[in-house]
Amino acid sequence: MTDPIVGIICLWLRRACEDIVAAASELTGLDARIGDGDHGINMRRGMQAVADVLETVEADAGSADVLRRTGRRIISVVGGASGPLYGTLLIATADKLGERPGGVLDLARALEHGVAAVGHRGRSEVGQKTMLDTLVPATSALTSALRSGRSGPEAGRFAVAAARAGRDATRDMVAQRGRASYLGERARGHLDPGAASAFILINSLAAALLDQPAAPISADASR
Ligand SMILES: Nc1ncnc2c1ncn2[C@@H]1O[C@H](COP(=O)(O)OP(=O)(O)OP(=O)(O)O)[C@@H](O)[C@H]1O
Ligand SMILES: [Mg+2]
Repeated sequence: MTDPIVGIICLWLRRACEDIVAAASELTGLDARIGDGDHGINMRRGMQAVADVLETVEADAGSADVLRRTGRRIISVVGGASGPLYGTLLIATADKLGERPGGVLDLARALEHGVAAVGHRGRSEVGQKTMLDTLVPATSALTSALRSGRSGPEAGRFAVAAARAGRDATRDMVAQRGRASYLGERARGHLDPGAASAFILINSLAAALLDQPAAPISADASR
């Protein structure tokens, strides 16, 4: 049986690499304000390594295999906090997806699991001015839109709207994790760089969903 979502996942990661490379200096600028100014550098290094992995992936590789291999590579090449966290996101998504995904809804649910694993690994939760402020609402919006019968492209739009609101909400937060937490009140008024990179990743995912409108939502028609 062919894997119905591996095409979306490869498109997503390739697009994410391009989008992150294009935004690298902006991400570094955000991190220079409340961190150590390396987030764009870390993300560019990680995503270029992902693109290298995708070059070597066999035509018959499954979704979980692609996600696991790219996640491991990010962890091995990125030294900053964001590398292990984004690597964990992809690996835990792969673990939940398993070898027989039925469609886009499986991916959405697996991503929610991956995001929960990020929180576990980072001992973090929504409201602490991190990437989770984008990822949690975005993946939750993606799943609920698909469950309520929306198409992949529509659900992607809901995810992007939730991601944007989540990212923007970090501006008024005081950071409770990472280097930005040392700043206390002085972090207020600045977007969290990880929340900004997470928005780019969700936007890239929505673009991949838009590109593949005929992908099945679920193997189970009743959902
Ligand atoms: N414990 C955590 N849980 C979730 N996200 C986190 C955590 N720590 C840091 N982050 C995210 O990582 C981003 C910073 O990533 P970066 O690539 O700059 O690594 P870093 O400089 O080692 O990070 P930091 O100094 O924040 O620990 C933050 O903006 C935040 O979104
Ligand atoms: Mg940094």
